[in-house]
Amino acid sequence: MDSHATSAALGRIAPSRTNAMTDRAIELRAAGRDIISLSVGEPDFPTPPHVIAAAKAALDTGQTRYTAVPGTLALREAAALHFQRDLGLAVPPSQVIVTAGGKQAIFEALLATLNPGDEVLIPSPWWVSYPEIVRFAGASVVDLPTQASSGFRITPDQLASAITPATRWLLLNSPGNPTGATYPAAELRALGDVLRRFTRVLVLSDDIYAPLRYGGGAHATLAVECPDLADRVLTVSGVSKSHAMTGFRIGVSAGPEWLIKAMAKLQSHNSGNPCSIAQAAATAALAGPQEFLADWRERFRARRDKVVAAINAIPGLSTPVPDGAFYCMIDAAPLMERFGDDEALALHLLEHGVAVVAASAFGGAQGFRISFAADDAVLDEALRRIAAALA
Ligand SMILES: Cc1ncc(COP(=O)(O)O)c(C=O)c1O
Repeated sequence: MDSHATSAALGRIAPSRTNAMTDRAIELRAAGRDIISLSVGEPDFPTPPHVIAAAKAALDTGQTRYTAVPGTLALREAAALHFQRDLGLAVPPSQVIVTAGGKQAIFEALLATLNPGDEVLIPSPWWVSYPEIVRFAGASVVDLPTQASSGFRITPDQLASAITPATRWLLLNSPGNPTGATYPAAELRALGDVLRRFTRVLVLSDDIYAPLRYGGGAHATLAVECPDLADRVLTVSGVSKSHAMTGFRIGVSAGPEWLIKAMAKLQSHNSGNPCSIAQAAATAALAGPQEFLADWRERFRARRDKVVAAINAIPGLSTPVPDGAFYCMIDAAPLMERFGDDEALALHLLEHGVAVVAASAFGGAQGFRISFAADDAVLDEALRRIAAALA
């Protein structure tokens, strides 16, 4: 075996294609090209000042040491407050774990529970990391395809027919990346009716975009709609998207104590604990004022409406109105004869100065995702370039 050989587990996964597109846009910019990136999944708003102040205070007061593995008690309490206030989910801090971003929580939960031969159900289009993490853990991905016409949501029948004795997890993401699909309470309860029959199946409910919903009404989440299933639901949340803290790398998850402990066991030998300074900042984010969010939501909503209208006016492109998060999943099927596939279309748009991510990166097809978490003037110019590139 040569010294550069990597593990079989690593060989099963591909690098993140959203990061790849963002890196390519950065490279082209460094080479002097004028590239607008709509490929990245983070708010353009600055991190709120009270959060920055908390990070500085943590440094000044010596909060620079190891913390408890599952996170500081202060942050787990703030997270419990967030789960109750924003998701209606009552959990004690002992059922909360703090991780280095939502990503680490998903990684830990899946690695701590999956064995070779296990199957994981993932509705597609999916968030890019889900299938890779499943494959890294040695389990198989079972695709539950969804379409724009049904709101990119799975149905109870589709779920029931996909479950086998090997099924270990269902990954639900609402509001969803890349589609913005958001499950209403009644649909979650109907999925719960199916899940109740299959006691081996765990559910990962990725609610990281819950504060960024545009439809009004309370956010619905499985552990609340079906409390009898809560002992097999891990609800993942965080501050990356809602509080513009992607660089702080803090996620918070709530679940049954056995699973939180299993995740902490893995974390104890991996990162050890999330960054102490970032934890202090996240405590301020989750326990402090939330009023700024209403303003952010309104601005995202206005951008969404602008982007949806502009995209639907371009011949060959169409998109439904996303209910949450800050992405549009755009169908470009009529353009496939001209471009061949969605990867070629994404490269064509990059040549015309806009970085987007091909739908196939998300298990979709014949389209691309754009993020509307960009300044209005930037979005206007990007939409103008897309229209010109396809004219
Ligand atoms: C659906 C979804 N879940 C989880 C994450 C992970 O977020 P974090 O940056 O907190 O790791 C992302 C980030 O893109 C996401 O879109």
